[in-house]
Amino acid sequence: MSALHERTLVIIKPDGVARGLTGEILARFEKKGLSIVGLKIVNVDKATAEKHYAEHSAKPFFGSLLSFITGGPATVMCLEGNGAIGVVRGLVGPTSGLKAPGGTIRGDFALSGQNNLIHASDSPESSSRELALWFKDGELLPVAKGSGSALRDWVYSAEERK
Ligand code: CMP
Repeated sequence: MSALHERTLVIIKPDGVARGLTGEILARFEKKGLSIVGLKIVNVDKATAEKHYAEHSAKPFFGSLLSFITGGPATVMCLEGNGAIGVVRGLVGPTSGLKAPGGTIRGDFALSGQNNLIHASDSPESSSRELALWFKDGELLPVAKGSGSALRDWVYSAEERK
C-alpha cells in the first residue's frame, strides 16, 4: 500500500441531504478516483454531535451548529485514496459558501457559513478520531477493497499503487 494512502471522514450535512445533493456530492468524489469504503445515512444524535464538534464547544455558534447537524438525516462516509484527506478538503473548499471558489462543492452549492453542506476531516489525527466516532469496528471495508479497488490500476501509476 502506498505511503500516501489515507482514509478520511466526510459528512453530507442535513442541508445537503434535504436539498437532494447527496448524489451530486458523492459523484464528485467517485469521479476523482477516491474509493467509498463506508457509507450510511444517520439521524445524528446530540451526544455524537457534541463529541464530533468538541473543539468548537466554546464558540458562540456551537448551539446553533448542534441544532443544525441534528436537524435531519446526514450521510456519513469514509473515503480512501492517496492523499485523501487533503484532496477531499480541496474538493470541498473553504468553510464559508460565500467565500468558497467556484468549482469546489461549497463554492458551487452553498451560500452560508454554517449550512455549508459538508464536513471533511482536516488532518490524519482528526480523521482517526472522527472515523472511530462514526463507524464501528468492521463497518468499513478492508483497505483497498472499496468501490474503487478495481480502478486503482487506472487511477494510479504502478509506483503509486505500492
Ligand atoms: P465544518 O467544516 O463541519 O466545521 C465546523 C462547522 O461549524 C463548519 O463546518 C460550519 O458548519 C460551522 N461554522 C463555522 N463557522 C461558523 C460561523 N461563524 N457561524 C456558524 N457556523 C459556523
